[in-house]
Amino acid sequence: MLDWTDRHCRYFLRLISRHVRLYTEMVACAALIHGERERLLRFDAAEHPLALQLGGSEPEELARCARLGQERGYDEINLNVGCPSDRVQSGRFGACLMLEPQRVAEAVAAMRAAVSIAVTVKCRIGVDEHDHYETLADFTSRLQQAGVDALIVHARKAWLQGLSPKQNREVPPLRYDRVYRLKEDFPDLEIHLNGGVTTLDAAQEHLYRVDGVMIGRAVYHDPWLLAEVDRRFAGDDHPLPERRQVILDYLPYIETELGRGTPLQTITRHLLGLFKGRPGARAWRRTISEQAHRKGAGPEVLERALACLPESASSRSCDG
Ligand SMILES: Cc1cc2nc3c(=O)[nH]c(=O)nc-3n(C[C@H](O)[C@H](O)[C@H](O)COP(=O)(O)O)c2cc1C
Repeated sequence: MLDWTDRHCRYFLRLISRHVRLYTEMVACAALIHGERERLLRFDAAEHPLALQLGGSEPEELARCARLGQERGYDEINLNVGCPSDRVQSGRFGACLMLEPQRVAEAVAAMRAAVSIAVTVKCRIGVDEHDHYETLADFTSRLQQAGVDALIVHARKAWLQGLSPKQNREVPPLRYDRVYRLKEDFPDLEIHLNGGVTTLDAAQEHLYRVDGVMIGRAVYHDPWLLAEVDRRFAGDDHPLPERRQVILDYLPYIETELGRGTPLQTITRHLLGLFKGRPGARAWRRTISEQAHRKGAGPEVLERALACLPESASSRSCDG
């Protein structure tokens, strides 16, 4: 999720679930080709399974970027056909590509020919007034013929004009029925549902009808949502981590990153929701928010924030 997630966030989420598939935020093809490639593609081996999401519209460029992603070690290349921001539209990619199904099919075919890892597409159920089921089915059919491995469908349409990206994630109604019908009509194609899923119970319900569920905002705000995923959906019943232990396991990573010059706050901003709904959540957030940006701040900020939690033996030493 652009401006929200990054590799530090993914490493942290991986400490909570070993199996959930993680996605990068959208990386623009032009930036990969002309910009700071190493920084944009960088990830830690612990983040697998990991998909690289690309933004672009030129089949040849996308194929080249897909190859870069594969060479760098990603497990999947995902093409963004769902982002409605003006910035993206001016580059003629993102959600507006839903109006150019043939171009998306050509892009998928080019990427499919360029790499051996999975090539997937994330799209909406429609854009503007082009929101009939038949349009979505035609789009899907072309991508299937082009060799797409899976489709992740954000179950609401996007308005290309007049709504902000935020409104486009809230205002158009969710139409899960459209995604279910797509799966019924394309039984051989992997279809994943996205949009508005906030609990694992809800995810489980969807999984009776589709092959996968992608969760965005709910996990970012409440990362502990992932804690039950391995047991429930991957049949892996390794002992559940404790929230506090996750932070302790994260500290060596933080030390390494600080040593590379990464500011503490860049990493800790992803941790604010870890104790959501638990006693001490506010003190946890406050300690991090007030102290992580200070000059020279290090892992001791997290130790102090942990000490603020009521179950902590040292909570008396909390100065947050
Ligand atoms: C801040 C923010 C940034 C986002 N950036 C991306 C992005 O880079 N690529 C993408 O496919 N979706 C992006 N999305 C959309 C989410 O992936 C997801 O489709 C949408 O939020 C609906 O799912 P949710 O209700 O589970 O959050 C973003 C969402 C937010 C809130």
